[in-house]
Amino acid sequence: MIFVVAAISTSLPTCSAFNLTYPAVFNFGDSNSDTGGLVAGVAFPVGPPNGQNYFRKPSGRFCNGRLLVDFLSCNFVAGGSTILPSTTPRTPFSFGIQVAQFIRFKARVLELLTNDDYYLKMIMICLTEVTDLGLILGTKLQKYLPLENYFKQGLYMVDMGQNDLDGAFYFKSEDQVLDLSQKFCQNLRLELRLLYGEGARNFWIHNTGPFGCLPRIIATFGKNESKLDQLGCVGSHNRAAGLFNTQLHDLCASFRDQFADANVTYVDIFSVKWNLISNFASYGFKQPLAACCGHGGPPLNFDSRIACGETRILNGSKVTESPCNNTAEYINWDGNHYTEAANRVVSEQVLAEIRMT
Ligand SMILES: *[C@@H]1O[C@H](CO)[C@@H](O)[C@H](O)[C@H]1NC(C)=O
Ligand SMILES: *[C@@H]1O[C@H](CO)[C@@H](O)[C@H](O)[C@H]1NC(C)=O
Ligand SMILES: *[C@@H]1O[C@H](CO)[C@@H](O)[C@H](O)[C@H]1NC(C)=O
Ligand SMILES: *[C@@H]1O[C@H](CO)[C@@H](O)[C@H](O)[C@H]1NC(C)=O
Ligand SMILES: *[C@@H]1O[C@H](CO)[C@@H](O)[C@H](O)[C@H]1NC(C)=O
Repeated sequence: MIFVVAAISTSLPTCSAFNLTYPAVFNFGDSNSDTGGLVAGVAFPVGPPNGQNYFRKPSGRFCNGRLLVDFLSCNFVAGGSTILPSTTPRTPFSFGIQVAQFIRFKARVLELLTNDDYYLKMIMICLTEVTDLGLILGTKLQKYLPLENYFKQGLYMVDMGQNDLDGAFYFKSEDQVLDLSQKFCQNLRLELRLLYGEGARNFWIHNTGPFGCLPRIIATFGKNESKLDQLGCVGSHNRAAGLFNTQLHDLCASFRDQFADANVTYVDIFSVKWNLISNFASYGFKQPLAACCGHGGPPLNFDSRIACGETRILNGSKVTESPCNNTAEYINWDGNHYTEAANRVVSEQVLAEIRMT
């Protein structure tokens, strides 16, 4: 509960963009879906111009506006989350920690619910305020909702893996990262199994996007053109994402076999994002790879020494990383995250894909 309270962020995402049939959505993920956990949890600065186009102020999201999860639902996530326990002190919320927090949170909610109405009301208010964190309660807040059912009937969205792979490439060869992938997947399976044990039955498992197309990755690992694929992205990273996704897909299938009463939907974010970057113009974008908020100009407009919104002295002159004038023309926001415009397209395609399955 302490975590819940600590992670309340000042702005609520819109939950009404799509009509989900789930009474609650619990989101577990990394900074692609972080709506404030990291900021609130460890005071990681997400300053302006983040949030400028939708919230009109920084909202704890690494984006100019809303994220995929904001479009899909509302939102236990923290930026920089990894499946394996994190070694970076700045981003301590691994999937395991998020699951442990969730389990404590759930126990506390159920405990308070057995008390009287006063607590029920307090919880309702609290939960409504922390939609950012993981819960949408139906707008009606019917008085005696069987809240316990929310945990069972709720949707568990899991978006993990990218940060594990991404981080590994800084220390390991491609072959070593490919070897590790299976381990990341097995850990994910253990955490899913824990959530299942807590009553979770409906899962959307997002696979990992083509993170070899992020400006930071291209600037760091793509200096030699022989490393780049047909889109100008770093091949090794996208291959690792591909392998991880194949393993994740198998994991989903075997989870369904083992737990016949679980609904497991594998959501192919990779294909959606790859398609978006490949056909950027047909979605109205002008810049498939460059960061909107960056420094250094084309083709990537990315400089690892300075972050979006920061001002620093570089080579003796003062440089501020400001956003581009038309964020809607860019797929990438800050070198690491997508713009709201791109998140919107991704969410529409994800929902179309899910409706078909
Ligand atoms: C949600 O449901 C309402 C009422 O049924 C409908 O008018 C609206 O178009 C739906 N929205 C979406 C995004 O499907
Ligand atoms: C780029 O990679 C190719 C193939 O691995 C290698 O032969 C070449 O020397 C590299 N070029 C530079 C500038 O490092
Ligand atoms: C699984 O999904 C189907 C259709 O969406 C639904 O009818 C069923 O109740 C779900 N199962 C569980 C255990 O929630
Ligand atoms: C900084 O100065 C060095 C040496 O003069 C130059 O090679 C480099 O391109 C400069 N960097 C920027 C970002 O201007
Ligand atoms: C944005 O537009 C203004 C006015 O046209 C221009 O001075 C500025 O350089 C532009 N900024 C960027 C990042 O392109």
